Amino acid sequence: MDGLKLIAGNSNRALAEKIGEYLGAELCDIELDRFGDGEIHAKINENIRGVDVFIIQTTNPPAENLIELLILNDTCFRASAGRITNVIPYYGYARQDRKDQPRVPITAKLVAKLIDVSGANRVLTMDLHSAQIQGFFDVPADNLFAAPVLLEYIKSRKMQDLTIVSPDVGSMKMGRAFAKRLNAELAVVDKRRSDKDKTEVMNVIGDVDGRNIVILDDMISSGSTLLQAAGELTLKGAASIMACATHPVFSGDACGKIMKSSISEVVVSNTLPFDPGRCPKVKVLDVSSILGEAILRIHSNESVSTLFV
Ligand code: R5P
Repeated sequence: MDGLKLIAGNSNRALAEKIGEYLGAELCDIELDRFGDGEIHAKINENIRGVDVFIIQTTNPPAENLIELLILNDTCFRASAGRITNVIPYYGYARQDRKDQPRVPITAKLVAKLIDVSGANRVLTMDLHSAQIQGFFDVPADNLFAAPVLLEYIKSRKMQDLTIVSPDVGSMKMGRAFAKRLNAELAVVDKRRSDKDKTEVMNVIGDVDGRNIVILDDMISSGSTLLQAAGELTLKGAASIMACATHPVFSGDACGKIMKSSISEVVVSNTLPFDPGRCPKVKVLDVSSILGEAILRIHSNESVSTLFV
């Protein structure tokens, strides 16, 4: 690719390689390892002066993933890259995106500031936890959707009497868009978060009795939101339950809980690395073509809006 280079951090190299395959581009030769004390050491072994550089790195824990990204930005800046785009398939620290209680941080804004000051000129991400996080960056930020890949898979299952369920109000916009594209009904769970990793279902709004359900969310972390919703939907007579989420965070015993649940299948994307061997109910779909196509269009100053479906 003329004047374009892909740089992969260590957080999701498999996805970076797939993006490279889509673009027919090799990943840039870099050193990204540790000093003896654990600090990150970085060095780019190719000339990137004036080059359009795309750094691919998810920012899920450990925090070293984020620090690697910041260090790579600084490395590219000091190596006189022409433009530095941070490709962040999963933008971590996004859930604290507003001050909804006293004495809480807005980590989504803090991380955006760190990315800005470390030298990024653009950000390309996917299914941000909330769309307004785009505005937390002082550089242009494009928020892609995994929807084309997820929708194609759900369609291939040819489910009758389909209802898309948003497990909380936050994911309703995504739920409505999916329901429209699938010609399905929409229902929503009235969820209350009693603790950071614990949720309670207050009510289910919409008809789910005898319906085949797809619970749709941006991410599955502890699995509490998903499992609580699935339990309530089963009680209310759902015929079958599948789950679909872009980001497979899967913290704690989420996989074990999913295996024991009434959920038949969980569909996620590869924005985060996930070994399907950990949970046979999980199917991982590849979103590298969406990210690769957006990189291509950004590089050639073409519109990326047709990818926003
Ligand atoms: C919440 O607002 C999000 O959309 C997800 O529902 C939530 O982050 C999932 O987390 P957990 O799996 O820990 O309930």
